[in-house]
Amino acid sequence: MGVTLSVIKADVGGFVGHTESHPDVLAKAGECLEKAKKEGLLIDYHVTKCGDDLQLIMTHQLGVDSEKIHKQAWDTFVWCTEVARKLKLHGAGQDLLADSFSGNVKGMGPGVAEMEFEERTAETVIILMADKTSAGAWNMPLYKIFADPFNTVGLVIAPNMHAGFAFEVHDVKEHKKIIFNAPEEIYDMLVLIGAPSHYMVKAVYHRESGEIAAVSSTQQLSFLAGRYVGKDDPVCIVRSQGQFPAVGEILEPFTAPFLVEGWMRGSHQGPLMPVAVKDSTPCRFDGPPRVVALGFQLSSGKLVGPGDMFSDKAFDRAREQANHMADIMRRHGPFEPHRLPLEGMEYTTLPEVMKHVKGRFTDL
Ligand code: 13P
Ligand code: 13P
Ligand code: MG
Ligand code: MG
Repeated sequence: MGVTLSVIKADVGGFVGHTESHPDVLAKAGECLEKAKKEGLLIDYHVTKCGDDLQLIMTHQLGVDSEKIHKQAWDTFVWCTEVARKLKLHGAGQDLLADSFSGNVKGMGPGVAEMEFEERTAETVIILMADKTSAGAWNMPLYKIFADPFNTVGLVIAPNMHAGFAFEVHDVKEHKKIIFNAPEEIYDMLVLIGAPSHYMVKAVYHRESGEIAAVSSTQQLSFLAGRYVGKDDPVCIVRSQGQFPAVGEILEPFTAPFLVEGWMRGSHQGPLMPVAVKDSTPCRFDGPPRVVALGFQLSSGKLVGPGDMFSDKAFDRAREQANHMADIMRRHGPFEPHRLPLEGMEYTTLPEVMKHVKGRFTDL
């Protein structure tokens, strides 16, 4: 059967500060989506959080970019913001940039990853969600999952993966897209996706079947708002098993923590730490950035699960390593490369401060 999996997320208020989500906010979201399920709009849903970001995982049959589904998500965020306001949570309604809903939540603040597909006999999906980082953070893991045989041995030894995958890359500054075929075009592709704030992997497709394999959220909060309001804290859906990478091949890139943009005030580089949902509590210097992975089996659109994938002990060392990397980065205080270079600080609070000193420069 044809099913659409929509993951729509927003920061509607943090508890405490930007470190966590309040249980009352999650409960309100559950209430809203339960009603939508009873009314027949949703087949199923799962509400969760990554740090201070509220995650709505929904299945339905209305396709991607459905106005009804997007309105349901928007209204849920608005109701949850009410709860956040009552509790005086930090930054209540932070990511809701518009006053009212107008057709599609894209461009209004929330992050969106959606895909429509024919459900397979066994439909395994992994949903990656991050806090304290930018859209584009999925570039490296998606590359490893779908193009690097040292990560994904299926590319070498599984006949149904051997033809490789096609990457849809978005130039988010010029609003253009390009498709790269892996493996033969990986060098060209890496020139671009190695600059994840400019070029983002939006989707990945199986080359033989043309089936969608992965989709990520590429919404950039600062770009939409024209100023710093918080980080994008992106999400990504990856289909697994059969002609797609195995669960373990999808999770493997996170065993070697890499540096991403975000962390304190969205202005730093820091390691992305894989954690269980309950441990997505970025407290040290508002970080380090976190990633959680929830796994589901879909059964006629029902979300069977979740499995909290990074709760596995095998990720303990990655967490240790991320903490060690965090120590090294923190040593630099307000210096680069911990603090972002000036171009990256354009959408932070720094430009305001720069105004004060500008007039005091004299010629050399
Ligand atoms: P499938 O069962 O999806 O082919 O997965 C291959 C595998 O053995 C995973 O490790
Ligand atoms: P969030 O984007 O998660 O709200 O974090 C904002 C921030 O400034 C943390 O220091
Ligand atoms: Mg926040
Ligand atoms: Mg956040």
